[in-house]
Amino acid sequence: MTDLLDFAPETLECKDTLEERPWKIIIVDDEKEVHRITEMVLEDFLFNDKKLTFLHAYTAKEAKELIGQHPDTAVMLLDVVMEEKNSGLQVVKYIREELNNPFVRIVLRTGHPGEAPEKKVILDYDINDYKEKTELTSIKLFTTMISALRNYRDMMVIEKNRRALEKIVHASATIFELQSMKSFAAAALSQMTALLNLDNSLMLCHVNGFAATVGNDDYYIVVGTGIYEKHTSINIKDVVSSQVCDYIQKAIKEKKNIYGDGKYIAYFENEVNTRNIIYLENIKKLTEVEESFVDLFCSNLSIAFDNLYLKKELEDTQKEVVFTLGELTEARSYETGNHVKRVSIYCKILANSYGLSDEEINMLEIAAPMHDVGKVAIPDVILNKPGKLTEEEYQLVKQHAAIGHDILSKSNREIMMAAATIALQHHEKYDGTGYPKGLRGEDIHIFARIVGLADVFDALSNDRVYKRAWDMETILNYIEEEKGKHFDPKLVEIFFQQKEEIMATWSRLRD
Ligand code: C2E
Ligand code: SIN
Ligand code: SIN
Ligand code: SIN
Ligand code: FE
Ligand code: FE
Repeated sequence: MTDLLDFAPETLECKDTLEERPWKIIIVDDEKEVHRITEMVLEDFLFNDKKLTFLHAYTAKEAKELIGQHPDTAVMLLDVVMEEKNSGLQVVKYIREELNNPFVRIVLRTGHPGEAPEKKVILDYDINDYKEKTELTSIKLFTTMISALRNYRDMMVIEKNRRALEKIVHASATIFELQSMKSFAAAALSQMTALLNLDNSLMLCHVNGFAATVGNDDYYIVVGTGIYEKHTSINIKDVVSSQVCDYIQKAIKEKKNIYGDGKYIAYFENEVNTRNIIYLENIKKLTEVEESFVDLFCSNLSIAFDNLYLKKELEDTQKEVVFTLGELTEARSYETGNHVKRVSIYCKILANSYGLSDEEINMLEIAAPMHDVGKVAIPDVILNKPGKLTEEEYQLVKQHAAIGHDILSKSNREIMMAAATIALQHHEKYDGTGYPKGLRGEDIHIFARIVGLADVFDALSNDRVYKRAWDMETILNYIEEEKGKHFDPKLVEIFFQQKEEIMATWSRLRD
């Protein structure tokens, strides 16, 4: 891909500095000399191959400011007596109680032996150590520092894992909510990025990566981020180096997650046997614990993906069945051509403005075409009678609502259940004068109220065997007149707000 070259330099900006970041130490003391000596003694100090970096405060006030600005400080060496006798303890209280920072290790130091704080204070405020300053110019400063840093490191590992778990729980919940493949892939990618970037809360680097899925043995990008953002539907062979391709092949062949050279490849497949990868660049080597979190997340991804895929399959099948049923009904009653399609679109327009959720709108759109399925049971001579029905005939026709409900309620699929309710209630009227039950107002399901309006509008605006189409002005007056009688007043208002779009559909699909 040639346009990739335009983006390529950006990858060079991003260096992973996490591993080399030194341990942050704050020295708090009113004597300059103590700062100098401490720093000198610890000059060559290393813990886990990382050096120390020092920050300096000379009063309690400065110490509070400094720790506020540097919450990632590992150790504070804190003088007890400064501007006041208990300055040090004020700082400790501030850190633990005001800042709620439980992580920084605190070593109290005093030049006045015998001024040690009570044991209770040491326990309550999680103070690591209490030392006389004379001790701290020696090897003891080393051992104190090592024990404080070890303590801090362990706390951070636990905290990091806690955050990772929290993210997995959150991410998995998010993933299960998603409705489309593309939004699924986008979410999986961003959640995976977040998961692998726990330390890097400042997002020093923007992440480059993509989610890809198999097609004809090649992998295509479903969604990308960073330099891959614009590469949707592109074969990954065209965007990554052959070395990276090899990594990806290896991940797929061995069905596992692979790290190499700052690249991370997460592999997951699902029951319907689609193979998927998530590829990320600029990722530091993961610890064993982090690996296990990623594995856990990938297995949740597989399950969520299966759900999504199956749901889509089901919906596709149902859509087909439903349209076929709807069309059959139409053919049978000689209701011409596009009735089913038009009613479905009017419903979508009304539902959207009414404020139904995307999922509800989708369901209504699929279910609405089945509203007259019950007409299959009505004798042809009646249904296709060119003139007005007798009272008896009309009573018979009215049964199509309950019959439709009986047919559709055999299935407990969500869509079928919605369709059953619609079939049963689509001739109910807002003022309670409809059939079969004489339901009133909001007791009529919103789907049925919507279909009721869409269906009548469509019946009036097209020819039927028993009547000619009305002219549009008469129809609009009729709908306005029936506001709050036949129709939900709120829906009538929406109908007029959306008149343009409804008219456009009508003229596009008119018989
Ligand atoms: P449909 O043709 O799909 O009509 C649906 C609804 O549109 C009707 O429900 C009614 O509320 C409204 N509608 C249709 N045409 C007119 C009309 O000329 N004037 C008014 N004010 N409203 C109209 P409804 O009345 O419960 O009818 C249910 C079904 O019964 C109709 O479905 C149609 O299949 C059948 N039907 C109703 N009247 C006649 C008729 O006079 N002759 C024949 N052959 N069938 C009829
Ligand atoms: C840090 O650098 O802030 C400590 C994190 C760690 O290496 O565990
Ligand atoms: C759906 O929401 O697509 C139907 C799934 C079901 O009800 O089993
Ligand atoms: C629904 O969203 O299913 C019901 C809302 C309503 O009746 O207004
Ligand atoms: Fe009907
Ligand atoms: Fe109808």
